[in-house]
Amino acid sequence: MRKLLLCGYMGSGKSTVAKNLSQKLQMECLDLDHLIEQHAQMSVKEIFEKKGEVYFRKLEHQVFKETMNSPGSFVLALGGGTPAYANNHELLSGDDVTSFYLKASIDTLYQRLITEHEARPLIAGKSADEIKEIIAKHLFDRNFYYLQSNHVISIDQKSVEEITSAILQKLA
Ligand code: S3P
Repeated sequence: MRKLLLCGYMGSGKSTVAKNLSQKLQMECLDLDHLIEQHAQMSVKEIFEKKGEVYFRKLEHQVFKETMNSPGSFVLALGGGTPAYANNHELLSGDDVTSFYLKASIDTLYQRLITEHEARPLIAGKSADEIKEIIAKHLFDRNFYYLQSNHVISIDQKSVEEITSAILQKLA
């Protein structure tokens, strides 16, 4: 059994890299946001709007724990906030677990998120300046939790292939 976890801020490429990595390793690819959506029968955006963030964080914790307790091997892309709530960071390492923090600069994240922020509940409806401020604050608050990962991969100016190769090198 082998569980590979990808964490990092929104826009750091967790889901795309997880797909590429899982194909290369011929492993199942899972995405925590999708698993939560299946469980709730609602999109993440709807969960935030209708039930609020606390409800989302509880569900995120429950689904993450259940997934980690399930047998089998997979690559799992976490949500951007997952490690920072409900002691989820404690699940970032363990016997069968290898975790990677896809680390990006505020500027990289801002450039990626500014074009698609309306789909993301934490930054929807915010101005460009506010978005930059939110990213900076979140990175500051979440840094400790992201750094509980086994490996840190800098992703600024790297392609999906380059990031995947960097992860494979760490696994070799
Ligand atoms: C969140 C990130 C999102 C999603 C939710 C909250 C966060 O996941 O879980 O909107 O707190 O940073 P992605 O990073 O996959 O967009």
